[in-house]
Amino acid sequence: LPPFAGAVEETWTIGRVIAWTSEFFKRKGLDSPRLTAELLLGSVLSLDRVHLYTDFDRPLQKDELAAFRALVQRRASGEPTHYLLGRREFYGRSFRVDPRVLVPRPETEMLIEAALECLGDHSQARALDLCTGSGCVGVTLAAERPSLRVVATDASLPALEVARENASAHGVADRVELRAGDLFAPVARERFELITANPPYVETSAIEGLSPEVRREPREALDGGPDGLTLIRRLITGAREHLSPGGCLLFEIGDRQGPAVLDLLGTAGFPGASVQKDFAGFDRIARAHRD
Ligand SMILES: C[S@@+](CC[C@H](N)C(=O)[O-])C[C@H]1O[C@@H](n2cnc3c(N)ncnc32)[C@H](O)[C@@H]1O
Repeated sequence: LPPFAGAVEETWTIGRVIAWTSEFFKRKGLDSPRLTAELLLGSVLSLDRVHLYTDFDRPLQKDELAAFRALVQRRASGEPTHYLLGRREFYGRSFRVDPRVLVPRPETEMLIEAALECLGDHSQARALDLCTGSGCVGVTLAAERPSLRVVATDASLPALEVARENASAHGVADRVELRAGDLFAPVARERFELITANPPYVETSAIEGLSPEVRREPREALDGGPDGLTLIRRLITGAREHLSPGGCLLFEIGDRQGPAVLDLLGTAGFPGASVQKDFAGFDRIARAHRD
């Protein structure tokens, strides 16, 4: 256990605490041990990482050490860093996250790039963000395009509460309408210039093999059914009737789902569809247009 809580006679400076904790996390086999130590300590002291370094020799108070120790223990027992921090950066903005929602991933920022490109300078567009979770995609698009109106949906009411908080925090609550329900059910007979989604796409049998951190995220945010494509299939078959002529469908997919997804898109009447790879070389973003 982290020793610094009771060590009143010793001086635990910021620098010493970071060094000790980095080593502790490393021994526990955690990813990014030093960065994690810095992020957690920064959150306890309300300091960004630069200021941790400028205050390296500052001794921590007893209550600061106790609060930090509690976080270190929770992280060591498998709680994801960003749930402990309660925040995650996405496309340059800070989003509230907690166990009600998936932690936004850096590769999902590619969905934003593709969506902004697709919107071009369309000034009256309406976008639909399915499976919105924390709202990171829908809220970011609304924040990036001040005339865009977004309908963001999710089957999970607890997730939508988090999305609501994020929409308010980023000043777009008046243009991001949150609706609860299964996939397209909340938008019957409505059409959009853009549909985005980051659906659950992990094969059910692969969930057990995911890291303990990922397994703490909501199962309904991960589980894509036996072949991972259950929701993606329904997304593809339902998308056409909800796209305006010329509209774009953009969604995230699993590492090797590209060929199967392109087949499904072709069959559903999206002949020119394509799949973009992420920086690690994995299939990541599927794009299709309605003619
Ligand atoms: C992978 S998470 C994506 C969250 C967020 N958009 C992101 O990119 O970080 C998938 C989301 O889909 C939602 N979901 C799962 N099944 C659904 C369904 N049948 N209809 C609507 N939403 C669903 C989950 O609640 C979860 O919030």
